[in-house]
Amino acid sequence: MTAKATAIAPANIAFIKYWGALDLAEAIPVNPSISMTLARCLSSCTVEHRPSGRDEVTIASSDGGLQDAPAAFARRILEHLERLRSAAGVRGSFRVATRNSFPSAAGLASSASGFAALTLAVTRALGLELPVRELSVLARRSGSGSAARSVLGGFVQWPAGENADDCYAVELAASDDWDVRDVIAVIDTEPKRVSSLEGHGRAASSPYYEARQNLLPGRIRAVRDAIERRAFGELGPIVEEEAVDLHLIAMSSRPPIFYWKPSTLEVMRAVRAMREDGLDAYFTIDAGANVHVLCLPEAEPEVVRRLEALSGVRDVLRDRVGSGPRISQEHLF
Ligand code: PMV
Repeated sequence: MTAKATAIAPANIAFIKYWGALDLAEAIPVNPSISMTLARCLSSCTVEHRPSGRDEVTIASSDGGLQDAPAAFARRILEHLERLRSAAGVRGSFRVATRNSFPSAAGLASSASGFAALTLAVTRALGLELPVRELSVLARRSGSGSAARSVLGGFVQWPAGENADDCYAVELAASDDWDVRDVIAVIDTEPKRVSSLEGHGRAASSPYYEARQNLLPGRIRAVRDAIERRAFGELGPIVEEEAVDLHLIAMSSRPPIFYWKPSTLEVMRAVRAMREDGLDAYFTIDAGANVHVLCLPEAEPEVVRRLEALSGVRDVLRDRVGSGPRISQEHLF
C-alpha cells in the first residue's frame, strides 16, 4: 500500500536571530529567537511512502516536470528522511518532490520552509497527525534549526535549548493580530558560499559573541513586548540592531564570513533615508546579502517604489505575515 501527502510551508524572517548552537547536529540554539512567518515565500512538498525500494528526491518545475535534485540538497533530504523513518518507527522508502514559490536561486531562506514542508508531508503520508510541538522538534532536527519556527504561523518564539525533546517553537501572536509587511530586496541570486550551519559553528570564535549574548535577554523582552502592543516603532530599531550584530559576529568570526554585498549597504542606506523622510521602515538581513524591509501596510507601496529604483536591487518581493503551513490536495506527482 502507498500513501501520498502534500504540505505547503512558509519561510520565516527572524527578528531575533538564531546564531550559534549548543549542539549543531541536533540544532539546539544557544539563544532564543523570534520570527515572523511569511505568507508568500512557500515550499511545497509531496511525499509518497512505499513498502520497499530506495528513497527518491526530485525537484518539481513550474511546468509540472520532475528533475533529480542537486546532490548536496538531496543528501540533506535523504538524511532527514532517515531521521523521520526512525522517529516514526517505520520501514519502506519515500518518493519526494519539492518546489519553491520563490526563486530558489535567490538566496532566500528556503531550507526552513523546505524542511518544515518535508517534515509535515512525511508525517501525513504515514497517517500521523502530530501536535505542532512535535512537528517543530522534528523539523528542527533536519539541521536547519529555523525550520522549527516554520511549522507555526504568525509571530513565533523558539527558545534556547536545554533538552533536545523540549526545544520547540511556540506562537506569540497570530497572523491576524498584526499585519506586518516584509518587502524583500533581492540583491544576490547566487547560493551563499558559507552555509548558516558553518556560521553557527564559528559564531563563538568572534570576540563580540559574548557581548551579543548579554544584550539578548533585553532584546527578547523588548521584541515580545512590541509584538504584544503592536508597537512597530519600538520593534524596528531592535530588529535592525540585531541584524547588524549577527553580521558583526559573522565578519569577526575566525575565519570571517562576509555575507553583505555592496548593494546590501545601498539598501540599508535607502531604508535610513526612508525614515528621514517619515516612512516607517526597518531592515533585517539573514545569512546572505538580500535585505528584508519591514513596514506596515500604509508604507508598503512607497517602500516598494524606492527599493525598485535602486540600481543594485534585482527584484523586489512583497511578502507579509502568514498563517503557517497547510496540507494541500495538489500533489506534485
Ligand atoms: O536554520 P539555519 O541553520 O539555516 O540558521 C538560520 C540563521 C539565520 O537565518 C541567520 C537566523 C534565523 O534565526 O533564521
